[in-house]
Amino acid sequence: MKPVLEVRNLVKRFGALVATNDVSFTLHEGESMTLLGPNGAGKTTIFSQIMGELQQSAGSIHLYSEEISRLKPAARIKRQIARTYQVPRPFAELTVLENIRIGHMPNSIWDMLRQRPDLEYERQLAHKVGLAEADYERTPAELSMGDLRKLEMARSMACKPKIMLLDEVFAGLTAAEVSQISELILKMRADGMTFLMVSHDLPALKPLVDTAIAINQGAEIARGSFDQVMANPAVLSSYLGEV
Ligand SMILES: Nc1ncnc2c1ncn2[C@@H]1O[C@H](COP(=O)(O)OP(=O)(O)OP(=O)(O)O)[C@@H](O)[C@H]1O
Ligand SMILES: [Mg+2]
Repeated sequence: MKPVLEVRNLVKRFGALVATNDVSFTLHEGESMTLLGPNGAGKTTIFSQIMGELQQSAGSIHLYSEEISRLKPAARIKRQIARTYQVPRPFAELTVLENIRIGHMPNSIWDMLRQRPDLEYERQLAHKVGLAEADYERTPAELSMGDLRKLEMARSMACKPKIMLLDEVFAGLTAAEVSQISELILKMRADGMTFLMVSHDLPALKPLVDTAIAINQGAEIARGSFDQVMANPAVLSSYLGEV
């Protein structure tokens, strides 16, 4: 299998805090991996460095063997790497379809206002993630948390990603919404998508992933299958330290 994403010896310091401490991993085509760890372990910080929203202090990031570590976020999105955010932040003034369009083309707001595109592509994405047609012209304030997460997925998918980083996709969802999003992820996996996921909903996460890396205080403490990692005593005690 072809390596898609390679993270090599990644380090991120915030002053004296080492939020990412020498983390390395390779994600292969079609693989689905999760980063596990308690609150503050450093999971989101790794996502932000992969997307270029935070600059790493040391180490490098490679996409299909090309080093992307110094590229701006927009250039990484252009290379078809997508992420969703732990807290969805749609544009409040725009409709659902416009948010899907704008999210992946941050400079296109002027084009959109000028050209009034038919948004057919955005419609297809909204349909794919399971948003109801009645919601397409609504604004985000009118959506449930489940629909906001679907909108996050659709927005990130607009760049036709080869790899998706999903941060807390299940947070704030009802059981029915968790299974809808899970089905969507499984379907995309069957179509060959590569995923890196983070979720505190461990039962929902388990059937979606092949491999897991546990992080504590920025550093890897275990890796293997989901069950192997969750059975590791160091991982258990890192989670227990959370409460
Ligand atoms: N911009 C920042 N400036 C300073 N410290 C930061 C910054 N972003 C994150 N941190 C710190 O880095 C550490 C890792 O945070 P991060 O958000 O990556 O954790 P996480 O594993 O995603 O946690 P959670 O499960 O709560 O989302 C925390 O101690 C956090 O306070
Ligand atoms: Mg986080």
